Amino acid sequence: MRGKLSEIGFLLILAQFSCQMTEQVSPDYYTAAVVEYSPTYVWGDALKTLTSNADAYIKYIEEASKQNADIIVFPEDGLTSTNLPSRISLMDAWTTAIPSPLDEYVPCTGTEINISETLKRLSCAARRNRIYVVVNIAEKELIIKDTDCSKNGTWHYYNSNVVFDRTGKVIARYRKVNLYMEPQFDNTEIPEIVTFDTDFGERFGTFICFDILFAVPALNLTRIEGVSNIVYPTAWFSETPFLTAPQTQFGWSYAENVNLLVAGYHDPEVGNAGSGIYLGRNGIANVSMTRDPEYRLLISRVPKTKHRKTVMEQESPNERKEREDQKTEGNESSKKVDTIDWIRLLRDNVKAYRTSLLKYHRNEVHLMSTDFRCEVEAEMEIDDSSPIRYNAVYFDDIRKFGTRVEAGVRLCGLVQCLNNSVESCGFAARSNTTFSSIKVTATFLNYDYPKILAIPNVLDYSFRPFDDWSYVENTHGAETNVTITLNKPMKNLIAFGIYSRFFDKDRWN
Ligand SMILES: *[C@@H]1O[C@H](CO)[C@@H](O)[C@H](O)[C@H]1NC(C)=O
Ligand SMILES: *[C@@H]1O[C@H](CO)[C@@H](O)[C@H](O)[C@H]1NC(C)=O
Ligand SMILES: *[C@@H]1O[C@H](CO)[C@@H](O)[C@H](O)[C@H]1NC(C)=O
Ligand SMILES: *[C@@H]1O[C@H](CO)[C@@H](O)[C@H](O)[C@H]1NC(C)=O
Ligand SMILES: *[C@@H]1O[C@H](CO)[C@@H](O)[C@H](O)[C@H]1NC(C)=O
Ligand SMILES: *[C@@H]1O[C@H](CO)[C@@H](O)[C@H](O)[C@H]1NC(C)=O
Ligand SMILES: *[C@@H]1O[C@H](CO)[C@@H](O)[C@H](O)[C@H]1NC(C)=O
Ligand SMILES: *[C@@H]1O[C@H](CO)[C@@H](O)[C@H](O)[C@H]1NC(C)=O
Repeated sequence: MRGKLSEIGFLLILAQFSCQMTEQVSPDYYTAAVVEYSPTYVWGDALKTLTSNADAYIKYIEEASKQNADIIVFPEDGLTSTNLPSRISLMDAWTTAIPSPLDEYVPCTGTEINISETLKRLSCAARRNRIYVVVNIAEKELIIKDTDCSKNGTWHYYNSNVVFDRTGKVIARYRKVNLYMEPQFDNTEIPEIVTFDTDFGERFGTFICFDILFAVPALNLTRIEGVSNIVYPTAWFSETPFLTAPQTQFGWSYAENVNLLVAGYHDPEVGNAGSGIYLGRNGIANVSMTRDPEYRLLISRVPKTKHRKTVMEQESPNERKEREDQKTEGNESSKKVDTIDWIRLLRDNVKAYRTSLLKYHRNEVHLMSTDFRCEVEAEMEIDDSSPIRYNAVYFDDIRKFGTRVEAGVRLCGLVQCLNNSVESCGFAARSNTTFSSIKVTATFLNYDYPKILAIPNVLDYSFRPFDDWSYVENTHGAETNVTITLNKPMKNLIAFGIYSRFFDKDRWN
C-alpha cells in the first residue's frame, strides 16, 4: 500500500515537472535565432581562428537561449572564415571529424571519437543552454577503399553542417552538394538528403549557400521529404538584379512555402551579407541586409507547420491587416531606408537578356521563345528629371555561375537601368519613377513546371524583400502560368518578376 502511494506521489511530481517543462512549449510557434556573423581570421593559424570564432558563437548561444530561442543557426564558414587553405595538404588543422548521427554521440561528454576542441565546446554550449545549435564547419574523413592495397586511405574534406540537439548530441550532419568554386572540398558519392526532428514537433531539412539554386538536395527536402522548415548557413555573393541575398532567400521560401532560417556570413567589402527568418507564404519575420547591421542576432517567432498556409491559400484582407499591424510594432528599424553603397554587388550579364524599354504610361510587352512565354504589364509615372529608365526583360538560356557550372535560367520581369541603354541595366539606384501597377506572367510549356524552381523575385533600394504583391499559379494540361502582381504603388524599384531555374539544362565542368 505504502509502495503504491509513493508511486502515485512520484507520478504526481513527474506530472508537475512535465507540466512545467511543457508550459514553455507553444503549440503555435517556436522561436528561431540566426546570426549574421563576421569571422575572425588569424593569418594561417587554424587553432586561434577556430577558438576565437567558437568563443563568439558561445556568447550568441547564451544570448539566444536567454531569449528563449529553441534553435540558433550560424553561417557557412563562420568558424574557419572563408580563408581556408587552397592546398589539401594544409587542410588538416582546419578540419574535424564529425560523428554520424547514427552514432548518437555527444562530443561534449564522449571520449571515443577524436573531435576538434571547437566542436566539443559547441556541443557543450548547446547542452548547457538547452538549445538546438546549427553550425557549418570544415570536415575531414579518412576513406579506405577495398581497392587500396596499402590500406592507408585518403582524407576527404567536406563543407558540412552539424546540428546539435539540446543535450549536445549530433543529430544531423550534411555535406554540401553544390560546391561553388571550393577546390578543397569533396562531394559525397551520393548526395545526402538530411533531415532532423525536434522536441517542439517540427521537422527540419538543411543545406548550404549555393545549394539553394539547385534541385538536389533542396527540392528533395521540400517536395519529397515534405519538411516545412529549413536551416540554411550561407556565405552568399549578392548579384543584381535578381540574386541579391534576402531577395533570393525570401523568393525561395515563398516558392516552396517553407520556413527558411538563414544565417549569412558578413563581409560586405567582398559582397557577403544578408540573413533572415522567412515564413514562406506567411511573409517575412526578420531580415538584415546592411553594411552595419543593427542586430547580428535576429530572433523571431516562427509559426509551426499546422499554422502555415498551404500553397493554394491566399491571405484574407483581415489577416493581412493583422500582419501589417504586427509589422509596424518594430517600425523604427524596418522603415529606415538603408543604402547599399558599401556592400559589393556582382551584376548579371544583362546584355544577354532580351529587353524592351518601358516608355509609356501604360506598357504591355510580350516576349517569348518556343518553351517559355513572358508578359509584362506596367503602369508608371516616369520621373523625367532623372535618366533612370526601366526595361522589360526576358531570358531563356544557360548562364555561368562561378567557373564550374552552366545553369539553365528562365526569367521574366522588369529591371531598373541607369539610362536608356541596355548596358546600364541591372545596377541599383534610387528612383522616383512610380509604378502604380505591375503584372508579370511567365508561362511554362511542355509539362516543365514541376521540374523547375520558379521564384517570385522583387527588389527595391532597401535591398530587403517586400511582400506587397500577390502570386497566382495556374496549371492547365501541359501549361502552367505564374503571375505576380504589385499591390501598392512603389518607387525605388530595382527588379520585379519571376526567376526560374531549369535544371535539365545544367552542366558541371
Ligand atoms: C586527434 O586529432 C588531433 C588533430 O588532428 C591530433 O593531433 C591528435 O593526435 C589526435 N588524437 C588521437 C588520440 O588520435
Ligand atoms: C602507407 O603507410 C605506410 C606507413 O605510414 C608507409 O610506409 C607507406 O609508404 C604508405 N603507402 C602508401 C602507398 O602511401
Ligand atoms: C532527389 O530527387 C530527385 C528527383 O528530383 C531524384 O532523382 C533523386 O534520386 C533524389 N535524390 C535522393 C538522394 O533522394
Ligand atoms: C528581429 O530580431 C530582433 C533582434 O533580435 C528583434 O529585436 C526583433 O523583435 C525581431 N523582429 C521581429 C519582427 O521578430
Ligand atoms: C509605425 O509606422 C506607422 C506608419 O509609418 C506609424 O503611424 C506608427 O506610429 C509607427 N509605430 C511605431 C511603434 O513607431
Ligand atoms: C548609360 O549608363 C552607363 C552606365 O553608367 C554609362 O556608361 C553610359 O555612358 C550611359 N549612356 C548614356 C547614353 O548616357
Ligand atoms: C526624389 O524626389 C525627392 C523629392 O522631390 C528628391 O528629394 C529626391 O532627390 C529625388 N530622388 C531621386 C533619386 O531623384
Ligand atoms: C493562365 O492560365 C489560366 C488557366 O489556364 C488561363 O485562364 C489564363 O488566361 C492564363 N493567363 C495568361 C496571362 O496566360
